[in-house]
Amino acid sequence: MNEIIKPQACNFIIFGIKGDLSKRKLLPALYYLEKKKNIHNDTNIIGISRSKCNIKDNINIIKKSLLNFLEEKINNEVWLKFSARFKFYNLDVYNNNNFIKLKKINLKNKNIIYYFATPPSTFSYICEGLGKNKMNTKNTRIIIEKPLGENLKSYNYINKILLKYFKETQIYRIDHYLGKEIILNLLALRFSNILFFSNWNNNIIDSVQITIFEQIGIEGRTEYFNKTGQTRDMVQNHLLQILTIIAMAPPSNLNSNNISIEKIKILRSLRRIDYKNINENTVLGQYTSGVINNNNVPSYLEEICINNKSNTETFVVIKANIDNWQWFGVPFYLRTGKRIKKKIAEIVIYFKNLPFNLFNKFNKKLLQNKIIIRLYPNEGIEIKIFNKLSGLNNNYKLRSTKLNFNFYEKKNIHKCNAYELLILEAMLGNQSLFVSGNEIKESWKWIDLIINSWKKKKIKPIIYKSGTWGPKESDILIQKDGRKWNK
Ligand code: BG6
Repeated sequence: MNEIIKPQACNFIIFGIKGDLSKRKLLPALYYLEKKKNIHNDTNIIGISRSKCNIKDNINIIKKSLLNFLEEKINNEVWLKFSARFKFYNLDVYNNNNFIKLKKINLKNKNIIYYFATPPSTFSYICEGLGKNKMNTKNTRIIIEKPLGENLKSYNYINKILLKYFKETQIYRIDHYLGKEIILNLLALRFSNILFFSNWNNNIIDSVQITIFEQIGIEGRTEYFNKTGQTRDMVQNHLLQILTIIAMAPPSNLNSNNISIEKIKILRSLRRIDYKNINENTVLGQYTSGVINNNNVPSYLEEICINNKSNTETFVVIKANIDNWQWFGVPFYLRTGKRIKKKIAEIVIYFKNLPFNLFNKFNKKLLQNKIIIRLYPNEGIEIKIFNKLSGLNNNYKLRSTKLNFNFYEKKNIHKCNAYELLILEAMLGNQSLFVSGNEIKESWKWIDLIINSWKKKKIKPIIYKSGTWGPKESDILIQKDGRKWNK
């Protein structure tokens, strides 16, 4: 039996307890941690919202969220223990004096975690409220959600306020992709197997594809998404984080600072994409109506209720190059979109062709070896290799075989959701699965240049039908390099 990890007791304070993020992600994650006995008996969960409501109604809201978003039935025993942890406060974060109420409850437990599950526009007010009331003592941590700014300038502004009241070691910037089991396994795969470790460079790797496709549209987040677009929503954070984990050199240990140093080196080595090379390195798209899983779905413009034009992209391809000794010449193709035919999230590492085909009498061409790291569906790793067809008459006819490693083959294994893991890590005070301020800064620098170049060159998204694989220009971009997308 594995030992149960139990962090110290804390007051876990959620600003925005009635918001979408809390309902969909945080409350189910906390419930699962309760079920697995990962929460200390003396930990309180304190929900903050603007509107006043009695405790019974608030508890009902929590229960309803679990009923809607848990992947299983609520267990009565767990619920009794879980619901008893809650306290609720109504507080207007725009008024500093209101924070005094919170100060009283904070005295009971030494450690305090503030989760900002509110829009970024409130972050500075919450920080000031906490700071001015001296509630930012060294035993406090804050967890904040993306989007952190919409460009480098606005990010710097947010970061400056955070750093005015909290030290970097107290700030936990969440990117929920870093809590996904398979992404953690990527580190294990790379740095615990000499097989991969010694082959992880431009001598034998040809190219890398990182794809995150979703069937959903913008899910009612009209105002947010129309300002943000797919590049800021997905590439600046999730895809670039995955890229850094694939490409970084081994850190000297698993300490958060050392991991971050290696990731930053990769971000700084990304080749600039500017107005001169933007056309050959990027494709933008926006979905129109179509059919997904036999259902008609509306166009992006219909979803955001705009009849005329919006140039916001819902699909993007970026060909990234890393100019360092290890990766020079290996393109990283980043691709993400909404309302795509299938939900797929995968990383595909293509290896180079062998310089000579010993079996050419029987096989005209040897295909490339590849490793597919699947985030969705069926989290797992697949390695494509070649072997000989068995039988007397087959000589050296080869076939491609999959070595398939599925993480959840055994039924009834509860998949640890990313938020569960990340909240537990924050309770333990371990920052290594969170993103440092400097990583975000470097990501914005690279993305800003791309977005500004689209503007400068007046590049508009190409319309694609919902339920397809995106605009055909995405295929053309990669075909020009003599490659194609993994199917
Ligand atoms: C979020 C984006 O960060 O990630 C959403 O804001 C996106 O637009 C979501 O749908 C995808 O996450 P996952 O875990 O479902 O792949």
